[in-house]
Formats: sequence, C-alpha cells, structure tokens
Amino acid sequence: MKILVTGGAGYIGSHTTLELLRAGHDVVVVDNLINSHEEALRRVERLAGRPLAFQKVDLLNKEALAEVFAAAPIEAVIHFAALKSVGESVVQPLRYYQNNVTGTLNLLEIMERHNVRRFVFSSSATVYGDPKTMPITEDIPLSPVNPYGQTKVAVENILGDLYRSDDRWGIAILRYFNPIGADPSGQIGEDPNGIPNNLVPYIAQVAVGRLPHLPVYGHDYPTPDGTGVRDYIHVVDLALGHIRALDKLRGETGLFVYNLGTGRGYSVLEVAAAFERACGRPIPLRVLPPRPGDAAVSYADPTRAERELGWRAERALDDMVNDSWRWQSRNPDGYAAGGG
Ligand code: NAD
Ligand code: UFG
Repeated sequence: MKILVTGGAGYIGSHTTLELLRAGHDVVVVDNLINSHEEALRRVERLAGRPLAFQKVDLLNKEALAEVFAAAPIEAVIHFAALKSVGESVVQPLRYYQNNVTGTLNLLEIMERHNVRRFVFSSSATVYGDPKTMPITEDIPLSPVNPYGQTKVAVENILGDLYRSDDRWGIAILRYFNPIGADPSGQIGEDPNGIPNNLVPYIAQVAVGRLPHLPVYGHDYPTPDGTGVRDYIHVVDLALGHIRALDKLRGETGLFVYNLGTGRGYSVLEVAAAFERACGRPIPLRVLPPRPGDAAVSYADPTRAERELGWRAERALDDMVNDSWRWQSRNPDGYAAGGG
C-alpha cells in the first residue's frame, strides 16, 4: 500500500517508516521537522535499502497538505505528528490544541475529500490519567490530567464521531505505553531537544557524560522499591503494532482501540540498573520529590491487541536498554552531529 506517515521523521515515526518499507509498503512522509531531523529519514532509506518520499509540510498548512494527496494515490494514513511535551502543554495549551487537534482536523478533512478512509492514530496511555486498578484495559473511563492528554482525548472523540457518521472509515486508535529503545542498527533513535523529560533518554545522556546524574522523582510510592513503575515497550515492537493495525484496516472498516504495551511494569531503579548493565558504567542517582502529576504505577492489559491484531511485544527490557545504549553511544549528540 502507499502510506502517508505524518511525523515520520520523529522517534516513533522513523522506526515505523523503516518497518513499513521493510514490509514492502511505499511511504510518503510529511513532517515540519519542528522536533526532528531529515537525517533520520536518510538513515531509514539506507537501512531499508529503498527510497521514501519526503515533503516538509506543516499540518496547519492545509493547502500544502492537500497537494500531497493530489500528487500521490495515498491508501492509508498513520498519524504521528503532534507536540508531545506534557510540561510545555501546561504552559502553552492553545499551541497544543491548535497543533494536535486542528492539525488532525485538517488531515481528516483532506482524507475525506480524497476518499482515503484508513487511519491509524497515535494516542497515549496518558488518556487514562491515574487509574486506581492495574492492568489498564481499553474500556476504563478516560481522565487526562494535562492539556497534552486532553488533545489526545479530543482527537479520539473526533474519530468516534467521524466513524459514527460514516462507517466506511477504518480507524485504529493505538494507545502507547512508554516507548524506549531503538533500531538494533544504532543508526536511528530518540533525539530529544534540550534536557530530556523522559527516563531512558535522560539515563542515556548521563551514561555518555552529557548530564551528571539521574533525578529519581519520588522514592516512597507504594511500589516494591518506592519508585514509579511503567510499562516500557521497545519502539520496534511498537512500530510492528502499526503494521498489524494497518493489515486489519485493509480487510475491514470499524473503530478499534488498542493498548500497545508489554503488560509488565518496571521501576525507575530497575530501568537504571538494566542500563548500567548495558553500558557498563555507573548511573549516579539523586532522589528528588515526586514530579507533579506522575502516577505511581501504570501498565497495560495488552490482550485485546494480541487477540484482534495477533500482535504481542516480543522484546525484553534488556533488549530495549541495549538498543538505546547502542544508539546513544554511537550518536552522543543525536542527529545534529551527523555521525552514526
Ligand atoms: P516526535 O516529536 O519524535 O515525533 C513527532 C513528529 O511530528 C516530529 O518529527 C515533529 O517534527 C512532527 N510534527 C509535530 N507537529 C507537526 C505539524 N503540525 N506538522 C507536521 N509535523 C509535525 O514524537 P514521538 O515520540 O515520535 O511521538 C509520535 C506520536 O506518538 C505523537 O503523536 C505522540 O504524542 C505519541 N506518543 C508518544 C509517546 C512517547 O513517549 N514518545 C507516548 C505516547 C504517545
Ligand atoms: N522519571 C525519573 N527521572 C526522570 C524522568 C522520569 O525518575 O528524569 C520517572 C518518572 O517519575 C516516572 C518514570 O520515570 O515514574 C517514567 O517517566 P517518563 O517521563 O519517561 O514517562 P511518563 O510515564 O511520565 O510519561 C510518558 C510520556 C507521556 C505519555 C506516557 C505514556 O512523557 O507523554 O509516557 O505513554 F503519555
């Protein structure tokens, strides 16, 4: 199929684009590069041994987006493009709603105009807020606690209304848990701007000496070692989940919602210890108060995706941190330095 991937130069988008090319699909990437580098796409082409088409387009520029659809017979869209920093979304809510919700509306309107009705959407476990029972199933009520999460719920609601208005749509909403890791080649990976917010990119920068120590946010959560527990999933497993979702939408219409996680949680200290094993260096820790808004524990019930998509995360925590370390150690300054 010819697939349009929005946000395809980003962390999850680049890994998914690589797996799409490996699976024989043709890919058109649109990305405004606000949080990514075109170099990632060049490396994806090299790894896949096949070219892709790239258009530097902002989803807020509806005319430019319409031209992409006019120029190529797109059959399905995987929509990653979004702003994703929780803290920034609290400070700049209008920018987040504009980019994430209006950008998606533009895309859906143009898809409808061109009779393209297969859509895979990047949602997030953040839509669940801080649920009281684990594991998290897809059916619990949604209660996001920040504007970023609200934008994901808003788009999920729009997609629900859209499907109810026209059942020719095939829509898969994928709620990711905590993606980490990188392609095992070490050529592509996560390259955050500035100081990382997320645990594994932060640890990786401590390991290469860019940051002095890891802040551990909270040590008396009701968890076995007192630190926060999350469901980390290898980004390659996540990418393969998108291919399975696309396969499903090839054969049927409908509105489908899936958790993509492993179903197992690890604490901050367990992840730091695994990373120490991977890099062979100590990760100095500094215990700080909990980060406002953080849940103690979050892990998925991924059984619906297994049952309906035949997809299951295969890669273990050690694979994830080994691959994160390979990427970080070969590209200590990310894509900007142009190494790899
Ligand atoms: P990322 O920032 O690496 O990738 C997003 C890409 O979208 C970037 O390349 C960025 O330049 C592009 N983009 C943003 N706004 C755009 C616009 N208006 N027009 C065109 N391009 C635009 O983020 P990621 O980690 O790869 O996340 C991909 C998706 O998955 C996002 O929707 C994110 O909200 C969601 N998600 C991410 C995580 C995570 O922890 N990484 C967890 C759950 C959900
Ligand atoms: N943590 C630290 N130190 C750090 C960073 C994180 O101790 O420097 C802890 C957090 O307190 C938490 C765990 O590590 O217990 C994971 O934190 P992340 O920031 O890596 O991930 P979150 O679960 O907080 O959130 C991420 C994304 C959200 C997304 C969510 C679920 O940032 O946008 O995963 O997909 F919604």
